[in-house]
Amino acid sequence: MIGKVDTPLPIVVLVSGRGSNLQSLIDAERRGELGGRIEAVISNRPDAFALERARRASITAEVIDHKAFADRTCFDRELMNRIAVYQPGLIAMAGFMRILTPDFIDRHMGRMLNIHPSLLPEFRGLDTHRRALAAGVAYHGCSVHFVTNDLDAGPVVIQARVKVEPDDDSDRLAARVLRREHIIYPLAVRWFCEGRLWLKDSRAYLNGKLLTEPFLLDEKHQ
Ligand code: GRF
Repeated sequence: MIGKVDTPLPIVVLVSGRGSNLQSLIDAERRGELGGRIEAVISNRPDAFALERARRASITAEVIDHKAFADRTCFDRELMNRIAVYQPGLIAMAGFMRILTPDFIDRHMGRMLNIHPSLLPEFRGLDTHRRALAAGVAYHGCSVHFVTNDLDAGPVVIQARVKVEPDDDSDRLAARVLRREHIIYPLAVRWFCEGRLWLKDSRAYLNGKLLTEPFLLDEKHQ
């Protein structure tokens, strides 16, 4: 195991729902394997179970209900203000179901990661598992990418593949993909926190080298 990092990077996690990826980050932090410290969890939905997970871990949990704002710009402005309080080195989006404005993204460029349930660039957007099955792909999976102004199209850092089985339905496939998400997201966050991963000129670098293709997690890796 690699040693613990002395000065953990402050992280804010953005969520909207059940928060299993948030949990994987919390668990990694507890094990001393995140390289960062989750300072706050912010949800745009008051009923997100992710908020409960944060509270159970004694992490500040905030709600900014998007329904209370006149438009996307107003919501994002408030989100920016609330995030700024924590001065995060990284904003980790973990099932955050909002499209962010260019203002927001430009302000945090290079400091935002997202987890997406497909092998990007395949199946951007929603409902990825059903679409993957309908397309008849042999492999599906998940990706961690930097967030840029192109939806689900920022540079991909790491992916994990999952073989599609003949009897798969959307739920079964989603569950297997999710298990891989919980491995690759903490890993990518750790790389970022340790200063091994960065974005420059719209490209991702890992360990000082341009990532010409995403790091692929070995299928047997658990
Ligand atoms: C995950 O599948 C993630 O890839 C996607 O939204 C889902 C969130 O799940 N962006 P959870 O809230 O982390 O359990």
